[in-house]
Amino acid sequence: MAILFLPMKLLPLLFLLFNSVMSTTLSSTATESFLQCFTSHIQYHFNSSDDISKIVITKNNSNYSSVLQSSIHNLRFWNTSTPKPEAIIAPFHYSHVQAAVICSKKEGILIKTRSGGHDYEGVSYVSGTPFIIIDLFNLRSIDVDIEKESAWVEAGATVGELSYAIAQKSKLYGFPAGICHTVGVGGHISGGGHGTLFRKFGLAADNVLDAMIVDVNGNVLNRKSMGEELFWAIRGGGGSSFGVIVAWKLRLVPVPTSVTVYRESKTIEEGATELLSKWQAIADTIPEEYFLRLVLLANQDGTNGEKVITVLFDCLFLETVEKLLPWMQENFLELSLDQTKFTEMSWIDSVLYFSGIPRNESELLLQRRTEDSNRFFKAKSDYVTDPISEAGLEHLWKILLEEERSVLILTPFGGKMSEISDSETPFPHRKGTLFEIQYMIFWNDDKETEKHIGWMRRLYEYMTPHVSKSPRAAYLNYRDLDLGRNIDDGSTGYEEASIWGLKYFKGNFMRLVNVKTVVDPDNFFWDEQSIPVLPWSEKLKCQQLGGFAATVEIQ
Ligand SMILES: Cc1cc2nc3c(=O)[nH]c(=O)nc-3n(C[C@H](O)[C@H](O)[C@H](O)COP(=O)(O)OP(=O)(O)OC[C@H]3O[C@@H](n4cnc5c(N)ncnc54)[C@H](O)[C@@H]3O)c2cc1C
Ligand SMILES: *[C@@H]1O[C@H](CO)[C@@H](O)[C@H](O)[C@H]1NC(C)=O
Ligand SMILES: *[C@@H]1O[C@H](CO)[C@@H](O)[C@H](O)[C@H]1NC(C)=O
Ligand SMILES: *[C@@H]1O[C@H](CO)[C@@H](O)[C@H](O)[C@H]1NC(C)=O
Ligand SMILES: *[C@@H]1O[C@H](CO)[C@@H](O)[C@H](O)[C@H]1NC(C)=O
Ligand SMILES: *[C@@H]1O[C@H](CO)[C@@H](O)[C@H](O)[C@H]1NC(C)=O
Repeated sequence: MAILFLPMKLLPLLFLLFNSVMSTTLSSTATESFLQCFTSHIQYHFNSSDDISKIVITKNNSNYSSVLQSSIHNLRFWNTSTPKPEAIIAPFHYSHVQAAVICSKKEGILIKTRSGGHDYEGVSYVSGTPFIIIDLFNLRSIDVDIEKESAWVEAGATVGELSYAIAQKSKLYGFPAGICHTVGVGGHISGGGHGTLFRKFGLAADNVLDAMIVDVNGNVLNRKSMGEELFWAIRGGGGSSFGVIVAWKLRLVPVPTSVTVYRESKTIEEGATELLSKWQAIADTIPEEYFLRLVLLANQDGTNGEKVITVLFDCLFLETVEKLLPWMQENFLELSLDQTKFTEMSWIDSVLYFSGIPRNESELLLQRRTEDSNRFFKAKSDYVTDPISEAGLEHLWKILLEEERSVLILTPFGGKMSEISDSETPFPHRKGTLFEIQYMIFWNDDKETEKHIGWMRRLYEYMTPHVSKSPRAAYLNYRDLDLGRNIDDGSTGYEEASIWGLKYFKGNFMRLVNVKTVVDPDNFFWDEQSIPVLPWSEKLKCQQLGGFAATVEIQ
């Protein structure tokens, strides 16, 4: 039986689930009290009503819809029946975040924190319970210090803005973040974060030096004052369970003046299955300067309308063509290795290249939305520890051919990722992982939603014997609520949570639960997949054993 945990702040709301009319009245009263509390807390910083309407965006502000939509990147969570926030708080200052936390706690209102809004299940801006969004898009200054090889980045900045800011200061440094430039650093780094540089330098989360977080009491803490346990938890355990991260201090990494990109595809008829087998066999032992991801597409073939499977080699080498060519000839002679297929460029140009931005339009890195933001999608992830057999692949092709717009991204691990221990950060998918698979399906019509999600679930079922087991692991940043959710009334089924908890964090899950129990015992920072608080009986046991007080520094 699942044990339910009711955070104190949500008890009144839970009670009112039985009376929706009362509930609406009460939640709007709570919202008004919240807004009163909030505006009185921040009066020292903003004193004209004009300013306040930029920080507090209520439902009757004419900009409410556009602000809400501005960081929604999945149309599944943008329709008339999608639950909307009572208000959006858009802080310009850390004190605004502090006030929002203090006042929402006081009034028993659920808050959701949004940075870039890329959450695959809309968890940063949708909930079944009345809620308020703290949206950090105004908090996005970036301070790059080349001499100290570090940068302070506020949580609302995107990885595109970060790369751009670094390149403005120096062409010799970069940061190992994700490939899509519109992703927010708040969610991305707190969930791990990987891209073209991670085989050489590790995850974005592996390169965090310090952080600023607003905790459940409304205090702003840095690494020293939050303690090493909480600092550990927010580097891969997801920020939303622990507080509101307002800034990261990041370690910049050295990049060569010239890197090389290469893109080449083969269809199944052209031998892609054999090539993929070859790639699987060496994926995690490829030199760490080489990033060779595979993108599998089921495309309409131009000539006869038949669908074909294409495997795209999408590569970045921290090396010149001359130096890398012998390695490619030795390992992938079947690919066209004509020198014209390789392009040498600066690291920042490779960031543009992977984002599909023309080299002369680098300012597009600063855009927070692209055309791709306006589509429906569902995704899932897997980790592969033993190569998938060719028979396994042959059947996979059949499933992919059932759909029009599926994309599978195979990201090789190894290199630096194998050198970092599983418990160094909450992200546990390290040594022994050959590669990660991300399954994605896109569509444009809400009537097709069920059909495509059904297909995705069948694909995932099919892959079971071919991927990691006990647990079948998954990547937090590719959030999947099919893996289980905390139920919407604010209670946490501890046993249910441990199902997805073990998939995302493996052996690190219990340590995250311990940290959560110490820093947020009343489960104020709750969402559909937030880390649960230890059941009181377990807590008692743990205390009797001297269990977690020893491992968790208490403020
Ligand atoms: C098009 C696309 C491309 C992607 N490419 C990559 C990639 O190359 N590599 C990769 O690793 N991932 C990638 N991702 C996944 C991405 O890393 C995650 O979706 C990430 O969580 C997004 O962060 P965000 O701030 O944009 O999202 P949000 O939706 O704002 O937040 C995601 C989660 O983090 C929480 N959160 C956000 N900000 C804060 C904060 N300041 N403090 C506390 N909690 C916070 C939210 O509450 C939510 O739970 C991609 C996603 C998309 C949609
Ligand atoms: C309003 O705030 C500014 C600082 O933001 C301050 O300089 C000014 O004196 C304030 N005005 C009033 C009337 O309080
Ligand atoms: C609408 O805005 C006014 C201030 O302009 C505010 O007093 C009122 O509470 C708002 N109503 C709602 C429902 O947000
Ligand atoms: C809405 O946004 C526009 C553009 O950002 C701004 O000029 C305007 O003042 C905003 N309106 C309100 C009511 O905040
Ligand atoms: C509207 O969005 C919600 C999620 O917020 C989803 O559950 C529902 O199916 C969507 N409705 C339609 C018609 O797409
Ligand atoms: C970049 O180049 C393309 C074509 O070469 C051109 O159409 C576009 O205007 C250029 N953009 C800028 C910002 O110069």
